Amino acid sequence: MNIQWYPGHMTKARRAMKEDIKYIDLIIELVDARAPLSSRNPDIDEMGKGKARLILLNKADLADEAGNAAWTSYFEEKGFQVMSIDARQKAGFKQIHPIIRTACQEKIERDRRRGILNRPIRAMVVGIPNVGKSTFINSLAGKAAAKTGNKPGVTKGNQWIRLNKQVELLDTPGILWPKFEDQSVGLKLAFLGSIHDEILNKDEIAAGLCAHLTKFYPGLLAERYGCEEDAGVLKLLEQIAVRRSCLRKGGGYDTSRAAGFLLDDFRGGKLGRITLEFPPVTTPEGETNGCDQDA
Ligand code: G4P
Repeated sequence: MNIQWYPGHMTKARRAMKEDIKYIDLIIELVDARAPLSSRNPDIDEMGKGKARLILLNKADLADEAGNAAWTSYFEEKGFQVMSIDARQKAGFKQIHPIIRTACQEKIERDRRRGILNRPIRAMVVGIPNVGKSTFINSLAGKAAAKTGNKPGVTKGNQWIRLNKQVELLDTPGILWPKFEDQSVGLKLAFLGSIHDEILNKDEIAAGLCAHLTKFYPGLLAERYGCEEDAGVLKLLEQIAVRRSCLRKGGGYDTSRAAGFLLDDFRGGKLGRITLEFPPVTTPEGETNGCDQDA
């Protein structure tokens, strides 16, 4: 199976982002805490050179706690400000403003030396589709946020939102990148629902998820659907079909519906907290991806 999804509107959005990034102090990058490397757009590091950076591990409530801690340390070691969040829970956002200021300390100092006081921090919010950007912005900005319209030089269409006197956010559309060099990345993004389901073969994606779960979370499918985990992935989908009464009219099992149930259960956290990949291990020789949990 070859997974690629890069529709035309993403090419346009990428171009706009490249243009707008010039006017930005800080990039707030939302990644999915269940697969933080696979859900990072590799273009952002290149486009965002020299900008302050904040990584939000969103949907942290759906990921393994140990995974969240490991990824926080991983990104901190790389020099990013990092925070785990559940974008739906405003209550957990108290730390966001201090962390934004910490990330932008250099800019604040630079402004102060030039006698510029209280110029708002301009932050661009980026992330792949379905990572929770709208939820995050709505929670952070609330109803009171003033939409400030376009600024000179900034591409028409991207929305500025004034959080308060100190911070303005620029919302951007969720984009992917032209080619997944590593197909396990495409597969994980398909599990997460960041690739349009219509272009995917759900049975194959669900089979990939079954393979991942039986390998790294043994017992989970048995507990949830009464599966016999050593039966092989195709049989597992049949067993889920039986459990969820997915029978075809003319007889036999409707494994596609079962695949849909499995993916929905995973995406909605009904299978428990699951992390799809762990940080690469640093050895004296450099980084290895020995801990990457491929499906
Ligand atoms: P996007 O703008 O990046 O495309 O994502 P969006 O905010 O639309 O969020 C996609 C889905 O993820 C939504 O669910 C949203 O509720 C959910 N979500 C966002 N952040 C979190 C989080 O931190 N934790 C959990 N558990 N879920 C999160 P939906 O089912 O598509 O819509 P809805 O019915 O919940 O609104």
